[in-house]
Amino acid sequence: MNILILGSGGREHTFAWKLAQSSKCENLFVAPGNSGTAEIATNIPIGVTDFKAIKEVVLSNQISMVVVGPEDPLVQGIHDFFLNDTALKNVIVIGPQKAAATLEGSKEFAKEFLFRHNIPTAAYKSFNTGNVEEGYKFLETLKPPYVLKADGLAAGKGVLILNDLNEAKAELKSMLVEAKFGSASTKVVIEEFLDGIELSCFVLTDGENYKILPTAKDYKRIGEGDTGLNTGGMGAVSPVPFATPEFLSKIEERIVKPTINGFKKDNLPYVGFVFIGLIKVGEDPMVIEYNVRMGDPETEVVLPRLKNDLVDVFTAMGDKTLDKIDIQVDSRAATTIMLVSGGYPEAYEKEKVITGINTVTDSIVFHAGAQLKENQIITSGGRVMAITSYGDTHKEAIKKSYQSISKLNFDKMNYRTDIGFDL
Ligand code: AMP
Ligand code: GLY
Repeated sequence: MNILILGSGGREHTFAWKLAQSSKCENLFVAPGNSGTAEIATNIPIGVTDFKAIKEVVLSNQISMVVVGPEDPLVQGIHDFFLNDTALKNVIVIGPQKAAATLEGSKEFAKEFLFRHNIPTAAYKSFNTGNVEEGYKFLETLKPPYVLKADGLAAGKGVLILNDLNEAKAELKSMLVEAKFGSASTKVVIEEFLDGIELSCFVLTDGENYKILPTAKDYKRIGEGDTGLNTGGMGAVSPVPFATPEFLSKIEERIVKPTINGFKKDNLPYVGFVFIGLIKVGEDPMVIEYNVRMGDPETEVVLPRLKNDLVDVFTAMGDKTLDKIDIQVDSRAATTIMLVSGGYPEAYEKEKVITGINTVTDSIVFHAGAQLKENQIITSGGRVMAITSYGDTHKEAIKKSYQSISKLNFDKMNYRTDIGFDL
């Protein structure tokens, strides 16, 4: 079968790496891809939301499966686009239809879904430009810290957590009235602060059946000890040590089952990954957010632990026979550490030559913001590559990743030296 992956990050390189291992994968394409995917697949230089160009690529290469990496094409309705096109409607698309993708595209929609299905989550209220004053009053009823969320997609930057009431009010005004996050903040969700430790749960569903993948935890802040600005993710580990069998069964009963049943009840067609951002409050899991895709860099530790043939798994999702798949997980831990451009997540330079990749033997190097140029691999983004290792323990895996990193270099290379510090 010919397969197309949409996206260009470490997540997509990992998908390509895993799908390429299957004997059922004949020709693999990645659009637009990066220097890592170029080594194992054919990169196609088109945008992930250019549906017309994607259609041409699918038809001219007899592609029968499209795996959607990032959220934008899903929120813009790529799955619906395929279903509504007679030439494309039989292609398997991994990723939900637009109605369900709104779970990531609108925080308010997600909160309403959670409450409608009695799934544990923080109390909230949403506000728009018409009721800013009510927003101020609601903030006065809450205890600090105050959690303000832009309703729409804001490239991971739309959540503010503030300790001071006046600052929270000013930010609310800035989001609603001054469009701090553009159209993403024409609505703002204010919610109760939850105090606990975060983890992520990844679920595969064909709309009827579901399978739970290994848990993972990512490290979002740029600085050591989880300080400084938020990033897309500076590293990840799987499994999550505090996710005991008892805690996992709470997640399945209280969160996963009502989520999948909620999709059916609300008529939200879903074939794809459900990424549930969780927080452990006391001994109980609560939902922070839904994403309708895999996480990045979580994919770089979750897929390496999956023993199944991923083409078989995705085919079963397309055929609605996911119940026939027995998910097999590698018992080893996997950890990944992101190498980023100096300055990221703020301004940074690009086109730095990356050296040493071929000398790494104990880890898997997943390329992210990296591209081929004149036979060299150069940086092209903030997050440049993810260095994944296995180990009998997290500690062992992390040590291997740091040893591999010592062989890699590019000008102003930065990374956290404390991934897994809290485990
Ligand atoms: P989100 O984009 O919804 O995942 O939020 C980004 C980050 O903000 C999360 O990963 C949490 O660290 C934090 N966060 C979001 N909502 C809450 C909440 N209600 N209580 C505490 N922290 C939160
Ligand atoms: N690492 C978090 C995300 O992919 O949203």
